[in-house]
Formats: sequence, C-alpha cells, structure tokens
Amino acid sequence: MADELERPGETRESGGSEPHLPSPSIWPFAFAGGIALVLVGLIVNLWVTVIGAIIAVVFAFLWIREATREVRQAPAEPEPPPAIPTGEEEPGPARYGRARFLEGTTLGLGALIGGIVTVPVLGFAVAPAFVDQGHDDVDLGPLENFPEGTFVTTTFYSKEDEGTVSRRTAFVRYNGPKDGVPSFTIISNRCVHLGCPTQPQGLPGDSKDVETSARPVTLAEVASVSGFGCPCHGGAYDSEGNRTAGPPVRSLDRYEFAIKNGNLWLGKPYSVGNVSGQGADAEIEAYRQADPGVHVDGPEQIFYPVTP
Ligand code: FES
Repeated sequence: MADELERPGETRESGGSEPHLPSPSIWPFAFAGGIALVLVGLIVNLWVTVIGAIIAVVFAFLWIREATREVRQAPAEPEPPPAIPTGEEEPGPARYGRARFLEGTTLGLGALIGGIVTVPVLGFAVAPAFVDQGHDDVDLGPLENFPEGTFVTTTFYSKEDEGTVSRRTAFVRYNGPKDGVPSFTIISNRCVHLGCPTQPQGLPGDSKDVETSARPVTLAEVASVSGFGCPCHGGAYDSEGNRTAGPPVRSLDRYEFAIKNGNLWLGKPYSVGNVSGQGADAEIEAYRQADPGVHVDGPEQIFYPVTP
C-alpha cells in the first residue's frame, strides 16, 4: 500500500483523472532578484538599475508564460451536439460562481489599495533623485563690492522661487585681473564630509545687504583668511579649499562665475579633487558636483561609489 502513496513532486499517470501540480519554477526568484537589483541600483548606479529592470521584465515574461501554459495549451472544446427541440426554455449564458466573483473582487480591491498606498510613497522617496534640483545663475552685484585679495562671505538664494530654503553661502575672493580678465575664487561653504557649513578662519567684518537683479544678497568681508574650518567634526581646509585635516574626502566645492554688465554672476557649483597653485594661477581638478562624502578621484571613487 505504501508504494501507492503519491509523493510530493511526483507526476503519475492515472487515467487523467488526477490534477497535475505545476512543477517548481525559478522564474519568480529570478524576477525578485531583478527587482532587488533595481532598488540597489537606485542607490549605487543608474546602470545597475537598468540591468535589474531588464532582468525583471524578462523573467516576469517567462513567469507569466509558464503560469498560463496550461490555459494556452488546453484542447479546444468539442462542438456541442445540435440541440434537440424539446419545447423547454433554452439555458442562459454561462454564469460565474460566487467564489470566483469573491476571489476576483478581493484580489482587485487588494491591488487597488496597495497601489494607492504604495505609489505616492515610492513617488516621494524615489522621484526626487530623478528631478533636476539645479541652481539658477545668481547676480551677486557690482564687482566693486569685492576688494582684491579679500574673501567676502556671500549669502544668496540659489533658486529665486524657493525662498529661504534655497539660501546658500559662498566665499568669494577677487584675485585681480589675469590676461585682462577679472579672476575670482568662489568656494562653497558646504563641508564635503557631511555637509555642515564651514567658517572662514579670519577676522569677520560688518555685513551689508546689496540690491541686485535677484533677491538681496548679503556680503561680509573677512580679513586675513588662513583657511576654512568645519565645526561639526573638525574638518579643515586651506585658503584654496584643499583639505588639510579631518574627515572630509576632497577639496571644497567651487562655483563657476561670469561677469555681466559690471556685475559678478554665480554659475553652477562643481566638485574639486585638488587645487595646486593659488588665486588666479590655481590649477583646479574639476568634476561634476558630487554629494558630501563622495570621492571624485583616485581609487576610492571605485571602491566607495555609494552616496551616504
Ligand atoms: S561635516 Fe564637516 S567635518 Fe564632518
């Protein structure tokens, strides 16, 4: 008798009266792996996301194909024999059972509620990473406000329409003319360890508001700046923004600039690997702006690609 017991996973021929259980499939696991890769890629690298999405789509297709194979391969129903008139009323169209209706309704409602709860959360969590959070060009006012060789702490709005949350600070130094063109060193105050505001190491003067074509800009001269310090974890930088001590991983970010109608305009920020030389003669290793804590050069950029 024991030999007649059916074992799990065993397919038996028994005259076709017993249902066939579907064989185990690896497609769901591969699909889940693809989704996991997509999520990891959102943190690490866009290309990992793309590869994960491709894997997820391919294995979802294979999974659906396998799940629907029996339906697709079901033999065509034989033609019913012609009805013999009996004088009785013909049966109506086929009807669905209550259990099937409840099953469909429950699944549909579950999917709807899941979508309503999940989609906004995903949107708020993931969408900002794909939205341009760029930076408007900012009018910092007339060049005369920036005396040669002196750092001026400059506070401005990086996005006109976003108000106070877009207030930023940069340290601006006029280096004098180079090849007949005014040269400026413009360093961001954002510490490249974890983003705290750095402070100039010098003698602060009075601040003043300057009316420009944008919102007011606040300027404060700082005399004899020897470098910049971060109050959070002791990060230190020299007067060109190079890291000299503490946990920051690169030099302070800088801003592009332009001169328009006698005014200094701040452009886009960019990241810096290292600066050699000083002032107008500085040679800057420039990179696309990276978040604090991210290496932009050297082998570390390969080993530590994740934004903290
Ligand atoms: S945030 Fe500046 S040293 Fe940590």
